[in-house]
Amino acid sequence: MKYVWKDEYIVGIEEIDTQHKHFFEIFDELDELLKNYSDENEESLIFASDKLLNYALYHFSTEEVYLEKCACPAAQEHISSHDTYREKMQILRDNIRKPNKIEGFKAIQDFAEKYLIKHIVNVHEKYADCFKKCQS
Ligand SMILES: [Fe+2]
Ligand SMILES: [Fe+2]
Repeated sequence: MKYVWKDEYIVGIEEIDTQHKHFFEIFDELDELLKNYSDENEESLIFASDKLLNYALYHFSTEEVYLEKCACPAAQEHISSHDTYREKMQILRDNIRKPNKIEGFKAIQDFAEKYLIKHIVNVHEKYADCFKKCQS
């Protein structure tokens, strides 16, 4: 298992923590499929890549509701970073449909590693206190 969830990533809102954990499961699924890449598992890779990108969109919307509801400091900055991901993900999504798909899948994996995992691990630390206070 390449991507492992750790308790230190908890932000204190169950809905968000459950979604973050699920991200790690999807990353791992994509990673396993890429390790065993062949023409036969291409459909599964398209499915896993789509699932990752769709889940990210769904997760960002959930989180934005809390960021606004909890009036977290610098919420706008966090939402802007989601906007950057949304734009980037649209390009990645369009690329999976093109020939040389393996490159498209790898680009999604790379994006997931560099941005989404970092986002969960680093950026969310800043919001954990705000979310916890808002929840209680
Ligand atoms: Fe976020
Ligand atoms: Fe998040």
